[in-house]
Amino acid sequence: MSETGTRRLRVHRFKRGDGGAHFDEFVVPAGPRTTVLDALRWIQLHADPSLALRHSCMHASCGTCGVQVDGQEELACVARLGDHRGDPVTVEPLANVPVLTDLVVDMADFFRRFGDRHPVLRASEAVAGAQPPDGLDRFVRLEDCIECGLCLSACPVAATSARYAGPAALSAAQRLLEEPRGADRDDVLAWAGRPEGAWRCHVGMECTRACPADALPAERIMALRRELGGREAGARP
Ligand code: FES
Repeated sequence: MSETGTRRLRVHRFKRGDGGAHFDEFVVPAGPRTTVLDALRWIQLHADPSLALRHSCMHASCGTCGVQVDGQEELACVARLGDHRGDPVTVEPLANVPVLTDLVVDMADFFRRFGDRHPVLRASEAVAGAQPPDGLDRFVRLEDCIECGLCLSACPVAATSARYAGPAALSAAQRLLEEPRGADRDDVLAWAGRPEGAWRCHVGMECTRACPADALPAERIMALRRELGGREAGARP
């Protein structure tokens, strides 16, 4: 932080019809506890109300505010500007998902990667008669995961393959093996063992480092591989 209590932010901008993305620079007031989200909201209120971003809970539980800060995946609501040395600090949308505008990505691409035949909601969590919001066929809840997409953004394999299931979806599959909730284990393993499944992981551990919920996606992918390997070994004559 400078002596005047300000920081410079370089923020990714993109609006449909603009013809391409660019960065805008802003100077924001900043103290030792100022978060990236505080700074972005200050920009919205005092410098550029057209800046688009997502947030909700403000305390690292809803998973909506994921961004890249100086190239590192973070939840903007808990990422402190003081922990970043960049001058300016660069704020970009998550990677490996389409950008809709500015810092807002299309999370439909994140959820598309999950096995759609596999239940991720306990029967006791499905309230009778509950109506999901428009655009959702059903309620879903992933164990541990806050569905922020940071792991997918950090994943080097997802950067090279849009077909790769990715860390969050594979973690959800592994969790189902621990607690099937009516899932067909063989079907889950067949899904995870596809060419674009668990064996595509490069074991770089970037997803586990990025995960703000300590859901250990890389370790879960390794557990899936052990299950898959054991099954294949058991099938040999
Ligand atoms: S606003 Fe909910 S996780 Fe950041």
